Amino acid sequence: MKKYSYHLLLVVAFCFLHTRSVTAINAQKICELKHKIGSEKFPSNFSFGVSTAAYQIEGAWNEDGKGLSIWDTFTHDHPEMIDDRSNGDIGPDSYHRFEQDLAALKELKVNFYRFSISWPRILPNGDISSKNQKGIDYYNMVINKLISNGIEPMVTMIHYDLPQALSDLGGFTNEIFIKYFRYYADTLYENFGDRVKVWVTFNEPFDYCVPGYGSCNFPPMVRASGVADYMCMETTLKAHAAAYRLYKAKYFETQGGKVGITISSRFLYSKTNDNDAVDRGMQYSLGWLAHPIFSLSGNYPYIMIEDIVSNSQKEGRAWPRLSALKSWWLNAIKGSGDFLGLNYYSSRYVEEALPPKGVVPSWDHDAHLKYDIDSKWRRAKSTWLYCVPEGLEDLLKWIRDNYNNVEVIITENGWSDEGTLDDSERIDYLKAHLQAVLNAVNSGCNVSRYTHWSLIDNFEWQRGYTEKFGLYYVNLTSENKERIPKRSAIYYKRVIETKTVIDN
Ligand code: BGC
Repeated sequence: MKKYSYHLLLVVAFCFLHTRSVTAINAQKICELKHKIGSEKFPSNFSFGVSTAAYQIEGAWNEDGKGLSIWDTFTHDHPEMIDDRSNGDIGPDSYHRFEQDLAALKELKVNFYRFSISWPRILPNGDISSKNQKGIDYYNMVINKLISNGIEPMVTMIHYDLPQALSDLGGFTNEIFIKYFRYYADTLYENFGDRVKVWVTFNEPFDYCVPGYGSCNFPPMVRASGVADYMCMETTLKAHAAAYRLYKAKYFETQGGKVGITISSRFLYSKTNDNDAVDRGMQYSLGWLAHPIFSLSGNYPYIMIEDIVSNSQKEGRAWPRLSALKSWWLNAIKGSGDFLGLNYYSSRYVEEALPPKGVVPSWDHDAHLKYDIDSKWRRAKSTWLYCVPEGLEDLLKWIRDNYNNVEVIITENGWSDEGTLDDSERIDYLKAHLQAVLNAVNSGCNVSRYTHWSLIDNFEWQRGYTEKFGLYYVNLTSENKERIPKRSAIYYKRVIETKTVIDN
């Protein structure tokens, strides 16, 4: 009875907010993309989805044989590193409540669902000798239910949650990781590849390598900037290529799917038309991984090799902290992506910082750039997130022009707030970014899918539960952890149904 009346209250509140917001449609938008290019409608084969990640939603951190990930140990050992001292031990509890997520996915009518597999849930020690059938059963259940409801599964192999057992071996700084990852990928293809046709190997390598192995504020908290973070990026590239090549050699003929990688990137603008600073910034961010995989020549961006070899010499090192890939790896990595997964949230202005900033050595110091925002850009709850929809359009055009118009899947894009159901800001953000994607498509960019982050409010890494990105609110304090649609969910559903960037 208590639960029932609580739910009723939420629905009434939602209806009230919904009616109120309709009258507020003309209120000032947080951001808009004013220009439109070409047709109003997405191509018929363009698809729409939503995204989540295992550690952020699953809970059940120590159940049914799951091993530890570095996020379990980080949040348990260092609660002070999380704004509200929370963790993903229970969270939205999707491990036990997938039916509720499925109901939301069906309500949205998404074409696909991007979720990640928890490596230590299926291989508790990271190694195939430790296979956990219950973990495999869970993901089989998820995949089968998605498919039987007409929703395509799209799987990220690892979204930050490295098995602790592999981190103990040095994680991404030990090249043995490449072998572990290849066997893990093999296990995934073998168990799920008959039904999963789109694989993302890694999510946002820059975002776990630089803070995780450079500046020490992300697990595994290594402080070796300019060295271990560069090793992490290189190991990631090689492991990605190994998993890609394995798929092509052993599975592609029978399974016929695609394998790509997800890279996060901002677009960079110059207030003074300094194209060199813009190019330097793009190469040091997106280009760091995208150039070796998607450019025609392969290898790291020339500017990075040149800078870092020279800086390493000045530092008196015996060998460079980053050097050109040798031909075997260069060729294995070049072309090892059927699509580029792009996470886009925001943009910045950039200019050269001379003298360079940042500790020596570090990515900041090597890149010697400084970043700025436009005072007109509206900020989300997250301090780093400003609404710059034109940045997405320009970034997609930059990828079209620099990487031979490779297929791009937008694997994440979203807006944070306090968690209100009347989330008109999220609708403005979504609408403006969808228009940016449509403009890019109409300008010949090979974008095939858009994925909104996120399906539900979830554990936002160091921000804990203080920032919300969901289309659905999750009542974390109730026993049932109800998923309640926000106004943006209703908006997105109408976009998906009509394949059109509709007005509110
Ligand atoms: C990550 C997500 C995260 C989102 C919002 C992305 O960089 O992939 O896991 O929740 O940003 O911060």
